[in-house]
Amino acid sequence: MTAQSRILRLACATAALMGALGAPAAGAAETDPFHGANVVQGQKFYTDLKCAACHAERMMGQASAMYTRADRKVHNPKQLLAFTQMCVTQLNHDLFPEEVKDIAAYLNQTYYKFK
Ligand code: HEC
Repeated sequence: MTAQSRILRLACATAALMGALGAPAAGAAETDPFHGANVVQGQKFYTDLKCAACHAERMMGQASAMYTRADRKVHNPKQLLAFTQMCVTQLNHDLFPEEVKDIAAYLNQTYYKFK
């Protein structure tokens, strides 16, 4: 084998390896279910709308238990978005879809941690 072909093979192997390792890293932003959402804004909505008060009432004073209970209803980002929307609607609040997404992103970052 010539030195040149050995370098070529090494380059190919490196490229293949980088492809294998690089794919998930490159896709990270796309797999973030709430990519582009404003978590800080979401937390503000969550506080302002007093979401926790009602949840606490139902979870013996511990609002966060709503998201961490064993039989929680939310098992994926889609359900998280749907539940958030449902509770926002229940509060008689009319938020933009982006704002509902901000809240869901906040809950995801804090409790659910879906990727
Ligand atoms: C009037 C009471 C009330 C208010 C206010 C309320 N919720 Fe809820 N929320 C509930 C109840 C009750 C459940 C549980 C429903 C169930 O178990 O089927 C729930 C469940 C949820 C869940 C799903 C939890 C799980 O099981 O994984 C999310 C997410 C959620 N609420 C988000 C919010 C957000 C965000 C707000 C504020 C915008 C909010 N809620 C305000 C009553 C409320």
